[in-house]
Amino acid sequence: MRYFDVLIIGSGVAGLSAALTAAEQGLEVCVLSKEERFEESNSYYAQGGIVYKGENDSPSVLEKDIITAGDNANYVAAVRMIASEGPDLVKEYLIDKIGIPFCRDDSGDLDRTQEAAHSVRRIVHVKDETGKAIETHFFEYVKRFRNIHLIGHHSAIDIITNCHHSSDFQEKYREPRALGVYALDGISGEVKAFFANAVILATGGVGNIFLHTSNPVGAMGDGVAMAYRAGANIINAEYVQFHPTILYHRDIKRFLISESLRGEGAKLMNRKGDYFMRRYNSDLKDLAPRDEVARAIYREIEIEGDGFVFLDTSNMNDVDIAERFPGIYARCMEVGIDITKDAIPVVPAAHYFCGGIKVDLNGRTSIPSLYAIGESACTGVHGANRLASVSLLEALVYGLRVGRYVSGKLKPVKKSLMRSIPSWIYPDDEEEFDPLLISNDLLTIQMTMWNYAGIIRTRRRLLRAMSDLSYLSHRIERFYKTARISRDIIELRNAILVGGVIVKSAFGNKKSIGCHFIR
Ligand code: SIN
Repeated sequence: MRYFDVLIIGSGVAGLSAALTAAEQGLEVCVLSKEERFEESNSYYAQGGIVYKGENDSPSVLEKDIITAGDNANYVAAVRMIASEGPDLVKEYLIDKIGIPFCRDDSGDLDRTQEAAHSVRRIVHVKDETGKAIETHFFEYVKRFRNIHLIGHHSAIDIITNCHHSSDFQEKYREPRALGVYALDGISGEVKAFFANAVILATGGVGNIFLHTSNPVGAMGDGVAMAYRAGANIINAEYVQFHPTILYHRDIKRFLISESLRGEGAKLMNRKGDYFMRRYNSDLKDLAPRDEVARAIYREIEIEGDGFVFLDTSNMNDVDIAERFPGIYARCMEVGIDITKDAIPVVPAAHYFCGGIKVDLNGRTSIPSLYAIGESACTGVHGANRLASVSLLEALVYGLRVGRYVSGKLKPVKKSLMRSIPSWIYPDDEEEFDPLLISNDLLTIQMTMWNYAGIIRTRRRLLRAMSDLSYLSHRIERFYKTARISRDIIELRNAILVGGVIVKSAFGNKKSIGCHFIR
């Protein structure tokens, strides 16, 4: 029997932060990742940076910026907590303890960059590969802890609860609690039960249920789907943030063109050479909140009938573009775009899920012993639209908090209760499904979400999405019940559920707000 004090699903910045503080309290911690490479996570692909402190900055200025970007739909207590505690935790953990090599200026001070809707330059960065630097250094750091057990290649399938799974009939009537997860070992094909006194979901975002996204392929909303099936509250699911600038190229998908390029002077232009953002927001122009910029690009694409717009870098006079943005420079060069000279073709794409599993200030969900952090959680910090570079901060702050919080609250799972949980039941005569059927169903979900529940929604489109997804969900549930279980099937089942939750929330909210826009 695999039994730990704390079980964390997901190994991005949120998951590693929770593992660290729980381990520092002496707890036995297990981190499960479905990936072979632990660093593979949404966090790894964050380019711009993480919010720290700027000149003439203060928690109240940061709080105001977060709430303005969030269209006043934020949970004020959560914003206040993150704005007052977050920057100091960046210093204590990322700079001093883990030693992330954030860029510095000639005088040795931390270099701060600018992104949309920030009133001061307060974002620290490692060139344009901040997520990669934080994630890899953090991972090296936690590997030193003997009480952190890192297990890759395991896809969590469902949360084990007493009420849902125990063979002791009485448990159905008791207060529910999370006891662990069933997870598929991707190497052996065996489904194993992992038990823990506290289960923390840190599974990242949902971008890959949309046709175009900046997220890695694993971003399928796994945690949200598992929490939903276990009966946890999911909120704000209509707020999916679309990043305005993803590289538009036949051969490169999912590649972000960081907003910090615009922070350093790059400008959006349509194919006629018109810097169109001044027509949409004459004050902030290219640094208007993301939802506005994404919709402006969408409209320009609609009006002009082109598939993309350009990001013009010719105004970035004071910046050595190749030196400051080496990751973007190199990737674009691979396909013959020299960003020091050429305008970059870009389109908006699904980027960040502002909704998720409802949690309190300590990451507690509505189910005892179940916690959620990072993009899978909805803390209320982002409201209806996230301010750039706040997500890594949120992942760090809530991760560290939850890791500490659980150590004082652990209620051991009784051995008899664990024994009452049956082993995984494999279907009789398991079918080996044609992978084409599975990939085609995923594509249908992605197209439905992109076309009917994307940047510009209408009630008709959402209705259509609801009926198409509902039809498909029956078929997928049948696959799941009869097929040999695989990561693809687990993810497909999660994707259809989360797609349905997003579409229903979007349909239920008739008012355009933040990144939820109804025409
Ligand atoms: C970017 O670099 O544009 C993304 C930053 C973020 O989403 O916070």
